[in-house]
Amino acid sequence: MLKFETISYEALFGPTPQAEALQRLRTSLLESGIVGIRFVPGFEEKVAAFIEAARTFSALPIEVKSQYAPQRDSGDVLGFELGAEKYDDQLPDDKKASYYAFVPNIPKNKWPQEVNLQTPYVELGTVIADTARKILHLIGLNEEIGLDLDKLEFLGRMLHYQKIGDTTNGNPNWAGAHYDHGVFTGLLPAFYFEEGKLVPEPEEAGLFIRPPRGKTFHKVCAKDTSLLLFQVGEFGQLLSHDRIQATEHVVKKSLGGIERFTMALFVDAKPDTRCTSISTLAQDGRYADNRAQDGSITYQQWGEASFARYLVK
Ligand SMILES: [Fe+2]
Repeated sequence: MLKFETISYEALFGPTPQAEALQRLRTSLLESGIVGIRFVPGFEEKVAAFIEAARTFSALPIEVKSQYAPQRDSGDVLGFELGAEKYDDQLPDDKKASYYAFVPNIPKNKWPQEVNLQTPYVELGTVIADTARKILHLIGLNEEIGLDLDKLEFLGRMLHYQKIGDTTNGNPNWAGAHYDHGVFTGLLPAFYFEEGKLVPEPEEAGLFIRPPRGKTFHKVCAKDTSLLLFQVGEFGQLLSHDRIQATEHVVKKSLGGIERFTMALFVDAKPDTRCTSISTLAQDGRYADNRAQDGSITYQQWGEASFARYLVK
């Protein structure tokens, strides 16, 4: 079981922010690779409304959901997708259903007619985005190091990991071990259902992470669904020159007929954000092969190289 800090929103952002809470925030991100924020205003109600809408959408026939699929050929990634990533030499992941949309809402987002997914999705995404921006500022990932917090982009990903027997292969994981390539990732604790009923997270399943200096993966036990979780992405590591390090994580499959719902909100830098990094990650081909003469790369180049590496069709 992984040890990580859970800190109240009030202690960090209330009228009298506490230095001790800030210290715990930094330590948790640095040593565990993840932090939980408790009692974020409005979070729990918005999570409940989102999970309900996500389940209603997921129960629609595949022909209906597929109307909202992205036009990948023209570079579109928004909407519903039944797809899979493949990480390094691992088995491809099982197909998992995703629904991508930018937060706040933009005209390019696609929304289903059959269920109001838009309102709960955007409202929850906005709470996560606002909290992410404040945390990044607190830990010094801000304008001082060339990250314009007013121009961050937030890409939501509703995730529905389907139960064994639906569209599964022999992979023991729902998502293989990987790092997120962005700056930061906000996550809900996941919700599990068996035959339509909410059930506790199974022991064997869920999010496991490898702390930055650890060798093995540990389960992130987040039974408290009032927690908003944040983990570090690779561009955050590049920008901070390893002061914080990207969190390697894996989502393990449940053995029974249990499905899992959650949302991840990827915090992305503005595409033309330039980074000149002395992080160990600057030796990665995605950085080294795209570097300009002055040694910098843009976030857009980093993102495109990362997508090319991980997506299987
Ligand atoms: Fe991830």
